[in-house]
Amino acid sequence: MSQSPQRVAITGASGFIGQNLLQQLSEPHYSLKVLLRSQPPQSILRQSNVEIVKGSLQDSGSLQQLVKGCDAVIHCAGAVRGVTEAQFNRTNEEGSARLAGIAASQSQPPRFLALSSLAAREPQLSAYANSKKRAENALTKAAGNMPWLALRPPAVYGPGDKEMLPLFQAMAKGIAPMITPRDARFSMIFVQDLVAVMHIWLQQETPATGIYELHDGHAQGYCFSQVVDVVRQISGKRVRTLNVPLALLSPLAAFNWVAGQLMSHYQPMLTPGKLRELGHHNWVCDNQALQKKLDWQPAFGLQEGLRATPGWQS
Ligand SMILES: NC(=O)c1ccc[n+]([C@@H]2O[C@H](COP(=O)([O-])OP(=O)(O)OC[C@H]3O[C@@H](n4cnc5c(N)ncnc54)[C@H](OP(=O)(O)O)[C@@H]3O)[C@@H](O)[C@H]2O)c1
Repeated sequence: MSQSPQRVAITGASGFIGQNLLQQLSEPHYSLKVLLRSQPPQSILRQSNVEIVKGSLQDSGSLQQLVKGCDAVIHCAGAVRGVTEAQFNRTNEEGSARLAGIAASQSQPPRFLALSSLAAREPQLSAYANSKKRAENALTKAAGNMPWLALRPPAVYGPGDKEMLPLFQAMAKGIAPMITPRDARFSMIFVQDLVAVMHIWLQQETPATGIYELHDGHAQGYCFSQVVDVVRQISGKRVRTLNVPLALLSPLAAFNWVAGQLMSHYQPMLTPGKLRELGHHNWVCDNQALQKKLDWQPAFGLQEGLRATPGWQS
C-alpha cells in the first residue's frame, strides 16, 4: 500500500507558484496547512481542504504549528524582490533554515521539498542568487536525517505570474523588448509542470532527495528570438524586436539600489544584481538527473504553456 503523504504543510501559498500548487493538491485526500502572513486570496478561502496558519518564516511559533503532525513540507515562500543581502538572506536563508530545523526536530520528521532557483548556480551574480545558494546550504545543515529535495527551476511562467506577463503582453502588442544578450540561452518551465513534479514527489513511496534542475523538455533552452517566434505563431501578429541595452536600464537599477538602502520596505525587482542575472549568457539547465529519480515528463513546451496562460493576448 502507498505510504504517500496526506497532510502537507505549504509556505508561499499566496504566491504565484504556491497558488498553482494548491490547485494541484485540491483532491480531498490531501489535507493542507498553509502559512500566510497576509490576507488570504479568495482562491485559498474557497478551497475546502486548506487550514490557514497565520505567521511568517520569521515566527518560530507559527512554523511549529504549521509542521506539527504533517507528513510533508513544501516550502515555496521566498523573497524574489529586494536590494540588500540582508533583505534576501533574512527570508531565503534564515527562513529556510528555521523551517527546516523545526521540521527536522519533529518526533517523526516529514519529507521536505524546497523551491530553490537556477540562480543558485551563479551565486556571484546577485544578492538574490546568493541567498538561494545560502538557503540550499542552510537546508543541508538543518535537515539532519530528514529526507529533503530542492528544485532549481529556471524562469517559471503560467497562470498567475506577474513577472513575465508584461513581457508577453508587450510581445502580443507587437513589440518584443530584448533585454538579454542576443546569444543568451535560457530554459523555461510552465508552472503546471513544476507543481506536477512536487505532486509526483509527494506520491513517491521513498521520496527523491538532493538538488535538481528542471525545464520544459526543450533541452537546449531558448534564445530570445525563439520566444518571439512562438508568440508570433500563437498571436498571428507581426512582432518587432526592440533591442534594449542593459546599460540603458542601469541608471534606474542604480536608483532602486540607493532607494532600497535608504528604505527597507522598498523592494524593487530591477536592481544592478537583476541586470547581471539578465546579462548572463547561460541559463540552460538539465532534466536528466531529476528524471532518474522521479517518473516525470514535462507536458508543456512554450507553445502549449503560453496557450494555457491567460491575460497576455487581450
Ligand atoms: N517565479 C519564478 O520564475 C521562479 C523561478 C525560480 C525559483 N523561484 C522560487 O520559487 C519560490 C516562489 O516564487 P513565486 O514566483 O511564487 O514568488 P511570489 O509570487 O513572490 O510568492 C512568494 C511567496 O512567498 C511568501 N513570502 C515571502 N516572504 C515571506 C516570509 N518572510 N514569510 C512567509 N511567507 C513569505 C509570499 O507571501 P506574501 O503573499 O505574504 O507576500 C508569497 O506567498 C521563491 O522561493 C522563488 O525564489 C521562482
